[in-house]
Parts: sequence; C-alpha cells; structure tokens
Amino acid sequence: MVVTTTNAGATTAARRVTILGSTGSVGTQTVDLVSRDPERFPVEALTANRNVALLAEQAKRLNARLAVVADPAGHAELRERLAGTGIETAAGPQAVVEAASRPADWVMAAIVGAAGLEPTLAAVRRGAIVAFANKEVLVCAGDLMMEEVRAHGATLLPVDSEHSAIYQVFDFERTESVSRLILTASGGPFRTKDRAFMAAATREQAVAHPTWDMGAKISVDSATMMNKGLELIEAHVLFGIPEERIDVLIHPQSVIHSLVEYVDGSVLAQLGTPDMRTPIAYALGWPSRIATPAERLDLTKAATLTFEAPDPLRFPALRLARAALQSGGGAPTILSAANEVAVQAFLDRRIGFLDIESIVEGTLTALPHRPLRDLAAVREADAEARRDAAARVSACGASAVGNP
Ligand SMILES: NC(=O)c1ccc[n+]([C@@H]2O[C@H](COP(=O)([O-])OP(=O)(O)OC[C@H]3O[C@@H](n4cnc5c(N)ncnc54)[C@H](OP(=O)(O)O)[C@@H]3O)[C@@H](O)[C@H]2O)c1
Repeated sequence: MVVTTTNAGATTAARRVTILGSTGSVGTQTVDLVSRDPERFPVEALTANRNVALLAEQAKRLNARLAVVADPAGHAELRERLAGTGIETAAGPQAVVEAASRPADWVMAAIVGAAGLEPTLAAVRRGAIVAFANKEVLVCAGDLMMEEVRAHGATLLPVDSEHSAIYQVFDFERTESVSRLILTASGGPFRTKDRAFMAAATREQAVAHPTWDMGAKISVDSATMMNKGLELIEAHVLFGIPEERIDVLIHPQSVIHSLVEYVDGSVLAQLGTPDMRTPIAYALGWPSRIATPAERLDLTKAATLTFEAPDPLRFPALRLARAALQSGGGAPTILSAANEVAVQAFLDRRIGFLDIESIVEGTLTALPHRPLRDLAAVREADAEARRDAAARVSACGASAVGNP
C-alpha cells in the first residue's frame, strides 16, 4: 500500500528536487517540467550514467548544486564542462547514492534497472517524496522497499502512467471496496505480428513503440510485453492487491491509462494523451496539480477506443511474471535480473528477440526462489540470476537469428 504521509509542507512552497537518471527519457521530461518553474523547483542534484555532455548542459541550465556521473571515466570531462560554474561534480556509483542522500524534498527515481536500488533507497531513508519511475527496483526488492518507506515516513508516488492512473482513482481509505485493478497496455510494436516475424525481429523494430517515446530497455520490454509483467508485480507491491485480481487489457490507443473496479461494479479510470509529462507532473506537484504542455485529450478526435485480451501464446512474458509473483520470495528478483541481461544482449545484437523470453524462463526455472529477508539476499539473488542468464546468452548467442 502506498504511504501517503508527507513532509511536503505548503503545496505551493518551493520544492527542492533531485533527478536520478536526468539524461534518460523520463529524466529529460522531468528536466523539461522543472525548467518551466525554476523558482518553485530549485535543483539539488542531477545524475547520469555516461552522457556527460547532456548532464553538464542540464546542470548549467537548471543551476544545479551537484552533477554526478556514475561511470568514473566521465568525471574529467564533466569537471571540464562545468569549470567556473560553481557546480560541484562527483563520479562513481557511490556518488550517485550520495547525491540521493542530499537534502532534496523530492527525488525522481528514473535510473533504468536494478542499478537504481541503492540511490532510491537512500532517498527513501531520508523520508523524501520519491517519484518512482524505476519499476525494476520495486520488482526486485518490493517488500523491502515498502518496509523502508513505512519505517522512514517517505512518500512514494508512482510515475509509470498505469500506476499513476490507479493511484489517482484508488480508494486508499477503503481498500476492501476495490475488487480489481485493470492495467492497460498498448500491445507494443508486435501486437499484430506472428511468432515467425518476432523470431527475425531486429533491435530497430523492437524499439519502435507505436504510442510512447521511451528508453531502449523499456521499449524492448513493451515489445515482449515483459513491461506489463513487471508492472503487474509493481501494482501488487504498490496497492497490495493479489495477483489474481490484477488484469491486463490491451488498449492500442493508450488513452485510458488504467482502471480500478469496485465491489459495486463501478469502474474508475484516468485518461489523457500518451505524454509522460502528465504523470511526471502529477508526482512533481503532488498533492497540487501543475500545468503541462501535454496535448489535451479530444475524445472526438480519438474517435474509437478499442480493447482486446492479451495473447498468452505470442507473449509468454506475462505468464512468466504471474508465475514469479505467485511463487514469491526471490522469483520476481530473478525474473527482472535475467530480463535485464537478456534485453541488453538483444540490444547489443548478441541474441534474437525470442531468445529473451527463453533465457528469462530458463533462469527463473533453474534457480531456487528463496525468501529475501534483507538487501544482502536481494543482491545475492540478483547476481546469481545475472550469472545464470549471461551463461544462457553465451549459449544461444552463437545460434541467434534475426537482429542483424
Ligand atoms: N521512458 C518512459 O516513458 C517510461 C515510462 C514509465 C516507466 N519508465 C521507467 O523509468 C525508468 C527509466 O526509463 P527511461 O526510459 O527513462 O530509461 P533511459 O532513457 O534508458 O534512461 C535511463 C537513465 O538512467 C541512467 N543510467 C543508466 N544506467 C545507469 C547506472 N548503472 N547507474 C546510474 N545511472 C544509470 C542513464 O544515464 P545515461 O543517459 O548516461 O546512460 C539515464 O539517465 C525505467 O525503469 C523504466 O521502466 C519509463
């Protein structure tokens, strides 16, 4: 269940922000919103992995106090680009954690993958308002993260458009009145394609999402539909609804961002054009609403909204995610880690598109699903799954088809 206690103070007061992953798709859209109201959103820290040129440009534009590059090889260039500005610089994964530990009221967690775990945890442990885009962290360490949120009085606001939608229509006071969550999915670029097409699919085809413009990893996850599997686990962690009461509905127009069904048969939904600045702005202004340049929804132009059930035969990732959630313990951690390794191998053109699902299934089946009592256990399960999945990548890399 999402903790809604806050240290936010007056809702229109200045809110000091830190953006973890500021150079990514969610990060740049957050920068865009923050830069529209610099008085209200002064910037403490920005972090990136390797994109030093964009990080330095953002830090200057937003007059940030600190800019951090996770890859130490980028530090000299970052220092050079920010020389004479008075903006502090630092490098390395620990410096990213320290950036998240600095006193910002609001932290955007927009690093991709489990690399976001430690920095996000640092922000949670300060009791900050954490805008949560980094779904892999909630999948790999969901229960532990929610315990930390409660223990430190942090506020966790979902940024994924589906979870932001549910958050906006979910009755936190009467959770027993919620009968079902319905996560909508665009269906991705291969919604109408057969398995033979997918077997030969290239990186370029897989990242060409029909309705959302996103980073490479989440775009591939949308093509396999593992993204919806990760979101199913994320929804369970955030809203405490059991797996069997969370449905997935294909909705290619991406206008209805998700729905909550109540015991009386009422269904509440949140709608909008597919623009991530809307859910990001919801979290940035929360509990107030702030204006965005997102295109307004005109239902007469949208004209037809269509829906279909997901096809479990063409998209087995959803079944794997449900199986991991039912199994519990370290299974979601293993699923997400193996998926990260396999997706990266596909993006590097070392394996074919359909190898992603077989690697994830192989690792999920091969490894034990031990209970994860602490973060050390999470890290161990994550590392073990990465080793197993990497071996499977090597084994199938030689025979990879497609993806030239
Ligand atoms: N994009 C969307 O519309 C969207 C929607 C909903 C949820 N999400 C979720 O939001 C998260 C971010 O997605 P995205 O699409 O914005 O990804 P992205 O475009 O790939 O950006 C990832 C960001 O994380 C940084 N980063 C990557 N590896 C890192 C590491 N090891 N240590 C520190 N920083 C690292 C990147 O820095 P560099 O630029 O230097 O590589 C970049 O700033 C994902 O969990 C995704 O599932 C995204």
